[in-house]
Amino acid sequence: MSVPVFSRDAVLEAVSPQDAYAAVRNAFIAHHRGEWVMQPKIYVTNYPAGDFRAMPAIGGGHALLKWVTSFPGNPALGLPTVTGLVVLSNSETGQLEAVLDAASVTALRTAAAAVLAADTLGVENGPSVAVVGCGVNGAETVRMLVAHGRTPVVWDADEARRRFVADQFGAEVAGSLDEALARDAVVTVTPGRDVLFSEGSLRPGQHVSLMGADGPGKAEIATRELGRARLFCDDWEQASHGGELAAGVAAGLLARDDVTELGAVLAGAAEGRADGEDVTLFDSTGLAIQDLAIARAALLRSVEMDLPRLEL
Ligand SMILES: NC(=O)c1ccc[n+]([C@@H]2O[C@H](COP(=O)([O-])OP(=O)(O)OC[C@H]3O[C@@H](n4cnc5c(N)ncnc54)[C@H](O)[C@@H]3O)[C@@H](O)[C@H]2O)c1
Repeated sequence: MSVPVFSRDAVLEAVSPQDAYAAVRNAFIAHHRGEWVMQPKIYVTNYPAGDFRAMPAIGGGHALLKWVTSFPGNPALGLPTVTGLVVLSNSETGQLEAVLDAASVTALRTAAAAVLAADTLGVENGPSVAVVGCGVNGAETVRMLVAHGRTPVVWDADEARRRFVADQFGAEVAGSLDEALARDAVVTVTPGRDVLFSEGSLRPGQHVSLMGADGPGKAEIATRELGRARLFCDDWEQASHGGELAAGVAAGLLARDDVTELGAVLAGAAEGRADGEDVTLFDSTGLAIQDLAIARAALLRSVEMDLPRLEL
């Protein structure tokens, strides 16, 4: 058997931001309809260093497993926070069809979900957008926004990093963290060590895509602030156990009926924003069906690309 291997660069060459956005949108809808299926991700932990995640999914004629890490202290060691592999198989024959770099697949699908949620749940007519946290996944979110004709302001705790990402994508650096957090739509992609939105800080009409707190013990928003917003998530099972909402559930502040899955809104089965004064929060933990969407989109391009192959 011989299968194509997609490096980081090959994934980004194969799947444009526009293709990633469309594929992830379709995946959320297929998941809502029960056509694409996944188990909640399994965390294999080695805290405080970090954790490993095993993420399986099936749909669209393929099955996938992503084995991926989150080691927040790695940048200080000169290592990436997120690394791993995606394995894509044919779901009819079980045959392996591709192996892909997990970090780039993750970044594309995370950025796509962040912008998709902001587009779906934010106020209409091109609101001002900010991205807070400009690491690997934040930078990809900036690229995704720019590819969709939006120019965000960016903020990162690291001054050199925020300038680098702004320059790379023609974005602007915000004057301060508070200025970034006051935008109409905010995407947060930090390690979740610091609460960005304190109690009482959300503004009427604001949308926030909370991408960074995707595991136990992380938070980008004060737990009580969740009660001031209409709540959305990518997947209730995952988000109520390992995401931002988990703290609200543990504190008895919210339950299943208080939270709507993004796929239901995209499929037209649930209401999103009700009016311009609503505050909407999207809690993302990252779904294997999103990875499946990106891996399938990459595979479609493999024939026309000169990719190295894994001989088994
Ligand atoms: N929801 C998802 O689908 C999803 C997907 C991938 C990663 N993540 C999570 O997103 C987070 C970021 O991942 P990454 O790979 O981009 O990490 P990264 O280490 O590459 O980047 C994190 C960035 O946040 C900055 N930062 C740290 N604290 C900050 C603060 N208080 N304010 C502003 N900026 C701050 C850092 O300087 C760094 O540039 C991690 O917690 C990761 O687990 C979530």
